[in-house]
Amino acid sequence: MSDQINLDGPAIDQSTEDPQPEPFQIRVANRVDRLPPYMFGRINAMLYQKRRDGSDVIDMGMGNPSDPPQTDVVEKLTEAAQDERNHGYSKSNGLLNLRREVCNKYQRKYDVELEADHEVIACLGSKEGFSHMCLALMGPGDTAIIPSPYFPIHMYAVILASGNVVTLDVFDPEKFLRNVEYTCQTFTPRPKLLIINYPHNPSAATIEPDFFVEVVRLAKKYGFMVIHDFAYADIGFDGYQPPSFLSAPGAKDVGVEFTTMSKGYNMAGWRVGFCAGNADMIRALGTIKGYYDYGMFQAVQIAAIVAMRDTEDAVAEQALVYQSRRDALVDGLRRIGWEIDPPKAGMFVWAKVPEQWRHMSTMDFAMMLLEKGDVAVSPGSGFGPAGEGYLRMSLVENEQRLRQAVRQISRCLDKQSALSSSSST
Ligand SMILES: Cc1ncc(COP(=O)(O)O)c(C=O)c1O
Repeated sequence: MSDQINLDGPAIDQSTEDPQPEPFQIRVANRVDRLPPYMFGRINAMLYQKRRDGSDVIDMGMGNPSDPPQTDVVEKLTEAAQDERNHGYSKSNGLLNLRREVCNKYQRKYDVELEADHEVIACLGSKEGFSHMCLALMGPGDTAIIPSPYFPIHMYAVILASGNVVTLDVFDPEKFLRNVEYTCQTFTPRPKLLIINYPHNPSAATIEPDFFVEVVRLAKKYGFMVIHDFAYADIGFDGYQPPSFLSAPGAKDVGVEFTTMSKGYNMAGWRVGFCAGNADMIRALGTIKGYYDYGMFQAVQIAAIVAMRDTEDAVAEQALVYQSRRDALVDGLRRIGWEIDPPKAGMFVWAKVPEQWRHMSTMDFAMMLLEKGDVAVSPGSGFGPAGEGYLRMSLVENEQRLRQAVRQISRCLDKQSALSSSSST
């Protein structure tokens, strides 16, 4: 805690002239300078420009759901917004009934028992909660292990909290665990935090429940805490049900899990997320949040309760919609010769750039698809160096437009190949 100094300065001297005004310099904090330029900035700028010029770009860039939330949920929001009692500051950690609904969902879906008072907190979207949890746990000299390629906030929430990051290859879960153990054995000081995210964004890697049993064992052995980002909890395909970290025995002793209503419920703009699990970690997050925010608009919280209580069938149907889109996109890309592993869950296809185009950076390749093919995708390098050579394609456009996207990609690449072979002859 810094000292408070009560100064009693002399009267302000207005007799001398102020120095010549110079261009005033804004000097931001180091933590801002530690952030790299936004990797998707170039893509987004061109996407925006193309749309302004009237092009119908097929957008597989962001994982921003395009389907609407359930009508009952929107009606509840409207009704709750009409009630003047809902317009004041709400509870920073979320209404008790909302946190109870989270407990009910965990009980119903994962057979996990949670205590609404101490083991659940509501966040302004899971990204806010995750970032502030990192701020609550990490500081100078602390290290977190994160999966690589990485969803940017998994890296930068730690950096913003002045911590350090060790990145480990996410593709093979067994190798990932071996490397977690090896890092703990060789790194001094030992990592304080393990951040995991399954189904993973961007790589679509998935795991089976045993993975989390091993995570808990390692956490206890080496003394690290765990954050599981479970953003794609509700989107599993072909009968695969993404497992909850909290269903591993002892998980609550070592960590927490973040869930969100952005994806499965199509409520991304509403900013409703949750953190559940270890009570001490949740208390620390609550302390930070108590300083930083006043919680979600109460009408949103009330509608979110209705969504979780009454619309689970719609969530399951939405997963089927993503499954059909996955099939449309994967089948189409395979037909034009791309090697794709169909994802078992999540909202993304993680596609290897075909051999012929690997001489280009994925950023340049993605820019070419956008500029010449009117298709926006995320270059893998936006998720760190391990993403180079891949593209992330989100499943937010409908099947027909995804098929159209494949045709446009195919046409664009054929044309570019023809151009480059004619210029080299
Ligand atoms: C892995 C992952 N975590 C968190 C989020 C953020 O979710 P929210 O909308 O709840 O902040 C996303 C959104 O794209 C995500 O992909």
